[in-house]
Amino acid sequence: MFTPEMMESVKKVEATRAQRLGVEPRRMTADEKDALLKEFHPDYREEAFAEIKVGPNKGQKAPKELVHLLHSNSRLLAEKVDINKVDYDVDVLVIGGGGAGASAAIEANEAGANVMIVTKLRIGDANTMMAEGGIQAADKENDSPVQHYLDAFGGGHFAARPELLRRLVMEAPDAIKWLNELGVMFDKDETGRMITTHGGGTSRKRMHACKDYSGAEIMRTLRDEVLNRQIPVAEFTVAVELIRDDRGQVAGAVLQNLETEDYLVAKAKTVIIATGGAGRMHYQGFPTSNHYGATADGLILGYRMGAPLLYQDTIQYHPTGVAFPSQIFGALVTEKVRSVGAQLVNVDGEAFMHPLETRDVAASGIIRECTARGKGVNTPLGSGVWLDTPMIEMIGGPGTIEKRIPAMLRMYMKYDIDMRKLPILVYPTLHYQNGGLEIGGDGFTKVIDNLLVAGEAVGGIHGRNRLMGNSLLDIIVFGRNAGKAAAAKAKNVELGNMNLDHIQAYAEELKEAGIDTGDVSPLLLPKYARHER
Ligand code: FUM
Repeated sequence: MFTPEMMESVKKVEATRAQRLGVEPRRMTADEKDALLKEFHPDYREEAFAEIKVGPNKGQKAPKELVHLLHSNSRLLAEKVDINKVDYDVDVLVIGGGGAGASAAIEANEAGANVMIVTKLRIGDANTMMAEGGIQAADKENDSPVQHYLDAFGGGHFAARPELLRRLVMEAPDAIKWLNELGVMFDKDETGRMITTHGGGTSRKRMHACKDYSGAEIMRTLRDEVLNRQIPVAEFTVAVELIRDDRGQVAGAVLQNLETEDYLVAKAKTVIIATGGAGRMHYQGFPTSNHYGATADGLILGYRMGAPLLYQDTIQYHPTGVAFPSQIFGALVTEKVRSVGAQLVNVDGEAFMHPLETRDVAASGIIRECTARGKGVNTPLGSGVWLDTPMIEMIGGPGTIEKRIPAMLRMYMKYDIDMRKLPILVYPTLHYQNGGLEIGGDGFTKVIDNLLVAGEAVGGIHGRNRLMGNSLLDIIVFGRNAGKAAAAKAKNVELGNMNLDHIQAYAEELKEAGIDTGDVSPLLLPKYARHER
């Protein structure tokens, strides 16, 4: 329960609630947003970034923790693996068992390819599973993919790669149809029409949801489909390095069974990196909403082989991570809580900004409130602002919270906080990597033949900030596309002799740059993972 100091502040929130109800806080101007971001967004903290000294993005900056991994050697530099002893031989190797990987595998299988998934945890242990609020698609009469494009392009600071964003929005309605037909139980009204809401930065209500466990429901359905199709899945099996052939094409991956620690070789005509995000790197010491395995592995695998990164210096901090209670510090409080009516309110009960500004702006506004303005509420682990959840039922009527955001209600009830009666405390949490490996509109990396990337490991789909619900969308759109494209390409691929020469070449580059971190990468599990048996 809340501390006496918090309860003092709650009284102020309650005192201003009725007067705040009818008044929507004003939206910021573009200049105000720019100034706010520069002063308060974590991406602008220069000391948190370092220069990449080797590889295709040499000279550019990235979060220090990521640079450390990019500056580390392969664990296979010191290990002898016979890559000619092939354990798996497939057309399409999908690395990653989240939404993008599962979608890719389903489509590759549908196209008749011999496809397998390798995943370092279990299928479905992924950020997809953690996604709550919904998935965007412009599939209603008052909306269009063009409108969706404009919202996302502006929200991403006009930096999205047009060919990627175009695919995202154009294929969105079909993605929803596909998921619906696979069995995803979307929220619908009594006529069977999908219920849609706003997210931050949307000009139309195009967020399709399964209450506030949209990602879990989508992942459940995709996982069932993978299993029903009997697509092979190697769980607790992590890709530690890509393999190339003497023609320069990607030719598979070296895997490690995390239980036995044995190395395995997967030979593949095409490889799809679908390894997800990096929240467990805890950039700048932030907590995270991400799943346990989100350690940027795919970025390292691709980069060491020469695939460039794009926008690796831009990270998304979800404005509303749990600030209190400490047991769930950093867990996601879905943006849908604001979509259905909760305002952001400071210690004095003032609504200090519009609740549905884009995420980078909202996160910066909360950080400003808690730092420069000194209007945060003290918590055991720092501070936070109120999300005034009782407003939701005043706007939508009794029962709205249980109906629309039951997972939130349940999460807080475990700690005796009834969000129908009391506001909740939030602070930004590390949520999403906006950057990743660069791909073309066809899903392939531009420099390594037959290597594709899908999902959060891709950079450039959203530009420098992503709107809510466009990630669940991109894993489906780009996952499906990657599966189809990889299966088609595999028909015409002949592999030459396999090698791991790029590992030695990278090591030499590091040596020449005078870099020796003493560590190996990819990280595979968070730094605080327990390794005892
Ligand atoms: O707030 C949320 O429900 C998160 C959604 C997203 O990242 O797209």
